[in-house]
Amino acid sequence: MKSIAYQKPGQIEETRYEKIHNVVFPSDKEGSIAVAQEIADLIRRKQEAGEYAVLGLATGSSPIKVYDELIRLHREEGLSFKNVITFNLDEYYPMSPDDVNSYHYFMYQYLFNHIDIDPKNVHIPEGNIPLSKVLEYTKQYEEKIRKAGGLDFQLLGIGRSGHIGFNEPGSHINSRTRLVTLHHITRVDAAPAFHGLNNVPRKAITMGIATIMQAKRIVLLAWSKKKADIVKRTIEGDISSDVPATYLQKHDNTTFVLDEEAASKLTRIDTPWIVKDVKWTDEMSRKAVVWLSEKTGLPILKLTDNEYNENYLSDLISYQGSAYDLNIKIFNQLQHTITGWPGGKPHADDTFRPERAHPIKKRVLIFSPHPDDDVISMGGTLDRLVEQGHDVHVAYQVAGYSAVSDEEALKFLEVNKHLGLSHTKINELLEELQIQNREQDSAELRKLKAGIRRAEATAALRFLGVKEENIYFLDLPFYDAPEFHKRKISPVDIRIVQNLVENIKPHQIFAAGDLADPHGTHQLAFEILMKVLENIKKKAFAKHLYVWLYRGAWDEFDIHEIDMAVPMSPDQVLKKRHAIFYHQSQKDLVMYKGDDIREFWMRAEERNKKLAEKYNALGLAEYEAMEAFKRYYF
Ligand code: F6R
Repeated sequence: MKSIAYQKPGQIEETRYEKIHNVVFPSDKEGSIAVAQEIADLIRRKQEAGEYAVLGLATGSSPIKVYDELIRLHREEGLSFKNVITFNLDEYYPMSPDDVNSYHYFMYQYLFNHIDIDPKNVHIPEGNIPLSKVLEYTKQYEEKIRKAGGLDFQLLGIGRSGHIGFNEPGSHINSRTRLVTLHHITRVDAAPAFHGLNNVPRKAITMGIATIMQAKRIVLLAWSKKKADIVKRTIEGDISSDVPATYLQKHDNTTFVLDEEAASKLTRIDTPWIVKDVKWTDEMSRKAVVWLSEKTGLPILKLTDNEYNENYLSDLISYQGSAYDLNIKIFNQLQHTITGWPGGKPHADDTFRPERAHPIKKRVLIFSPHPDDDVISMGGTLDRLVEQGHDVHVAYQVAGYSAVSDEEALKFLEVNKHLGLSHTKINELLEELQIQNREQDSAELRKLKAGIRRAEATAALRFLGVKEENIYFLDLPFYDAPEFHKRKISPVDIRIVQNLVENIKPHQIFAAGDLADPHGTHQLAFEILMKVLENIKKKAFAKHLYVWLYRGAWDEFDIHEIDMAVPMSPDQVLKKRHAIFYHQSQKDLVMYKGDDIREFWMRAEERNKKLAEKYNALGLAEYEAMEAFKRYYF
């Protein structure tokens, strides 16, 4: 396994922009196992010396797999926690320890209930002490850490605000454990767990920067594309209280453990030609030329040797011959990605087209994780596929009830009440809606909310001309786990998707290859599809199957990654907007929009227009908007 042992930054040329040591793993699982291993080694070393290991622990989504692995090491490899003392970084304020959203609850649920730690060695800031006692309490917390001999190891996550613990922008390097006010982004990120922003506490008690910096060893975890910007800023930017995590640049035993997505914006990974020799594959050359064109503001065909030489790309032109040849080659590649025929153009020469001309009428299966990703992400393309005569099927993978607000459910219940339908059930549901902070909606309420989304999705597809018998609501069971963190795919999920694929035997599958959605639903939906493709790849129909990935509402592909770009006319943009409007429960008061307050149709439109502008700025034709796809080879 890759070592995460600390190395002083600045020693390796390729990392010259990086001021914090970091190790990149293919996935969060592998990274978490390496971190758990380091913690286990520390605990065992201390055991042998008859000492306590003092651990600083974090909550949130980042450390969950580290805790899973520690539990596994305890159960299967006899790792004991009898000699472990823990101090948690933070707790919301005010917050009762038995609240399901408290960090107390989290720590017992994800770690302490499953290991042999002595409860008196566990310390988590208390969120329910009176305000007048907080100052005294925080001093005592510091004192307890000091008396335990200081932190041997501190585990951290990083917030998109750049916070560590709950040390938000503006925190001082000398800060100690104290009461703080949470940043808006932090509250937005916590909103889903609290069923809405208004329920998220405004304050928290957190260890200070100085408290954290005194730890002998610090490991910060960051997973997923959502963290890529803040990771780059923290590792490559200057130290600033605006991004408190940058203080870690001063700590000489800190390692960031990242997955590939979180590391994707580091210079050595995003624009590697700046820091090292690269292998000029087609995709890498395309990436470099698009980058150069965007950086210089020149269309591709106007780039000269000068621009290449002045921007670390002399190697690329010497490899390709000349700027002139390279420009034309890349320009043509991009030109060939554009097509108004996403299902292939009948009777046309398809040598340079993204899709085959034949069969003329294709069976198309569109997978949509939630019951609206289809129209948001590829409404224009879906419309074209139907209009161009293909047999279009749409499958919604999860029920999507979590994103239906109580207000919306109430509206529908009232309609039903008005119609006089089954009074007892309606009254029970009306009562349930009165309960604030419910742990999970009852099965009936979820069914109602899911029903709302089904009706909306069906209406949108009817508007686009998809036949009702071609619409499938798969209601994959992984979505039903009571907490987002606990969602795991099972063979049942895979079977359901595989049955559908085997029944339809599609020529084309469109699916969300989008890894940045807030709850990981898209990621799990994608993993299920990958497994299904693996299972069916030897079947005869799979030989003729093209898989196209689209990105969801949160993200877009980079130009160099795009294999098919489908332009839209102004009228098609409007039609797509109408299709999105059918998803009324996702309008206005959408529950999980993240920190972007625009409605989904606005985001989709802006993103599609931006993509068209980007193509145009590279020197390609000017379109109103575009949707993008990447081919997935299996
Ligand atoms: C949690 C904590 C926070 C989180 C950070 C990232 O104890 O102190 O700093 O580590 O907000 O949260 P996730 O891991 O949920 O992205």
